[in-house]
Amino acid sequence: MPTITEILHTMDYGPAPESQKEAQAWLDQHERRFGLFIDSAWSAPAETFASNNPADGKELAQITQASSADIDRAVAAARRAQPGWVALGGHGRARVLYALARLLQKHSRLFAVIETLDNGKTIRETRDADLPLAARHFYHHAGWAQLQSEEFAGYRAVGVVGQIVPWNFPLLMLAWKIAPALAAGNTVVFKPAEFTSLTALLFAEICQQAGVPAGVVNIVTGDGRVGEAIVNHAGIDKLAFTGSTEVGRLIRRATAGSGKKLSLELGGKSPFIVFEDADLDAAVEGLVDSIWFNQGQVCCAGSRLLVQESVEQRFLAKLRARMDNLRLGSPLDKSMDVGALVDPVQRQRIHGLVESARAEGCTIYQPVCELPPDGSWFPPTLITGASTSAGVAQTEIFGPVLVAMSFRTPAEAVQLANNTVYGLAACVWSESISLALDVAPQIKAGVVWINTANQFDAACGFGGYRESGYGREGGREGMFEYLTPLAEDARPAAPALEAKGKVKAAEASGNPFAIDRTAKLYIGGKQARPDGAYSRAIGGADGEFLADVGEGNRKDIRNAVEAAHKASSWAKATSHNRAQVLYYIAENLAIRADEFAARLAAMTGSKDPRKEVEASIERLFYYAAWADKYDGLAHQPPMHGITVALNEPVGVIGIICPNEAPLLGFISLVAPALALGNRVIAVPSEAHPLAATDLYQVLDTSDLPGGALNIVTGSADELAKTLASHSDVDAVWRHDGSAAGCAEVERLSAESLKRTWVGGGKGRDWYDTKQSCGRAVLAHASQVKNVWIPYGV
Ligand code: NAI
Repeated sequence: MPTITEILHTMDYGPAPESQKEAQAWLDQHERRFGLFIDSAWSAPAETFASNNPADGKELAQITQASSADIDRAVAAARRAQPGWVALGGHGRARVLYALARLLQKHSRLFAVIETLDNGKTIRETRDADLPLAARHFYHHAGWAQLQSEEFAGYRAVGVVGQIVPWNFPLLMLAWKIAPALAAGNTVVFKPAEFTSLTALLFAEICQQAGVPAGVVNIVTGDGRVGEAIVNHAGIDKLAFTGSTEVGRLIRRATAGSGKKLSLELGGKSPFIVFEDADLDAAVEGLVDSIWFNQGQVCCAGSRLLVQESVEQRFLAKLRARMDNLRLGSPLDKSMDVGALVDPVQRQRIHGLVESARAEGCTIYQPVCELPPDGSWFPPTLITGASTSAGVAQTEIFGPVLVAMSFRTPAEAVQLANNTVYGLAACVWSESISLALDVAPQIKAGVVWINTANQFDAACGFGGYRESGYGREGGREGMFEYLTPLAEDARPAAPALEAKGKVKAAEASGNPFAIDRTAKLYIGGKQARPDGAYSRAIGGADGEFLADVGEGNRKDIRNAVEAAHKASSWAKATSHNRAQVLYYIAENLAIRADEFAARLAAMTGSKDPRKEVEASIERLFYYAAWADKYDGLAHQPPMHGITVALNEPVGVIGIICPNEAPLLGFISLVAPALALGNRVIAVPSEAHPLAATDLYQVLDTSDLPGGALNIVTGSADELAKTLASHSDVDAVWRHDGSAAGCAEVERLSAESLKRTWVGGGKGRDWYDTKQSCGRAVLAHASQVKNVWIPYGV
């Protein structure tokens, strides 16, 4: 009896081409030259470049390279249109988004064929994945527009949004970007990737048909220079970028200090973990979807196979057999599995990476398949024998290339999975639900698929951890990326700090006990002398010497970061336990309320210091209350299963605290971070740090594990710089009203793409719960991981 594989080998498929007549007619209708879509009108094509069909290298159309004057016009049109778009109301916007969804469905085949012609991906994918998902995004977000006033009360649209996308999912990325932006009341300047502009231009036409008001959607084409012009434009309030980590870094640096809101969806090197008890045949199919979907040109492609040693050879044999059956060829042929790469540039890049692996002694497996003579093609490829640090094991290849490795234990699988700078997605295959659900939270990635791969839905957030970027697209959390809390508009100016240097030195004051009044640092649950053995004098409201505090330096921050990482038990503690500790801190602070009030009065001259202490106690209660209530969500996407959105801690957060309300400001930032399981390195108010250093004894008696909260006093600028440059710090918050300091934190954060939350050159009323409490704060202290759990057979 021949096996199924042998039968498949002998079977031949006839060609099943999808007609391209309508698509070609559409291109002809435009004389194969496209201008820009600004203010609902088409500009005449000016300087243009060719957009080619990757499958045969032939030119499809000429596309305009937008100039900076064009970007000015587009931003101005978006600005003019924005108030009217908001005034249309949630229902009005919902109707427009609904019309866009319907029109996408109505013209879905035209869109699918144009996408295939322009990108090289198979018609099977554009027809069955890209188009239905794009339409689904507009439907889902029509719903958010409708519900906005109810579900997002207290928020407003950000304003004019610049959106820049890559070439791998041209229309789908457009939908991910434009649908939530419009739902929330923003207007957009959207730039497709230079390789793949056509479906965005067709979308512009359906915007006209759907009644999108002029200026609400503007589509500008061109290369990275156009992207740069959008990024740097002063009229842009928010940037949403999907693309390479390298360009993501450039954008973070370019926007530092600008106040522009930013979300980055960047690269990945996602693990595909197969445990020995997995359904191996299903896992092979999952892997095909994971790494050969869209020729592997997928940011969340499962490009690193980690397979348990006991089944490694069996699994790889099945995989090679399946690879032999993948059909590569004309993307318009409905029976093809693998299409063309987007451009010869990508083929060259992928070829170079595979050859470097070969030169390093890796084994390269490629099925025998005939590559079409023209166009840009690369066969499905399996690399074995690579070391964990090899280029192909660490670099995002962005092509149909899988690197396979083995592991022995679940712990080793997790360790290998996390051995990357990225953190976009992961797949876990096991028939044991308890094993899979034990592993999923340990993987540092924004999405985990259990026994499935590459699932997406508009209701489920998508986005990365670490160098895969920040921000989420889709679902409720995706909407927040396009909204600003109204309370942000009510923030006061930063309080002016009195000139420094007027504090009398301790010795000069002649106080014989001055030495006893030197507050040390608080690291790993212990008081520690500052590494540099320097201290600074802290003066009172009247300039009199109050005490010295340790002058923390780079080494102290390093020690604090190390202590914070060691305190991983805090992240694993139950939320009930974390709540208890915060209540206990509040209780111990209350016992010493008079002492703290006296200290605040001496430092700041406050007439009602007790008010600040009471507010601080209440704030501790507030975040203790939240600790076990900031739950995730269970989404029900259109599949048989659930997607669980978990609110996970960000990790280690450096916090530069404000000078105004030095105790309340400190507590208002540190408490939410701790409540959600983060570990903190706090730099108290530079001017008035003593309320924080007085807390050491409160903390010692409150069961907070050593290292969960570390306090380093000294220069806010110096310590912020060190925290923002430290590769093991996951986020930095700065709220001391220093515009330049906040800009510096954002600029330095680009290197490891850590998250930031900065107050810029403004103050914050720490007593006002709208400005300083709530879910918006908790969102900064957490990152959402969506775990997909299909069930049934
Ligand atoms: P890219 O990041 O350069 O391009 C993405 C988009 O950004 C395009 O629209 C491009 O025109 C624009 N852009 C380029 N430079 C810019 C700048 N300085 N400022 C603003 N916008 C700019 O990605 P590229 O060159 O197309 O691909 C290179 C590599 O990046 C790929 O091989 C892959 O490894 C990775 N990549 C990752 C993607 C993802 O989804 N995570 C998508 C595309 C690429």
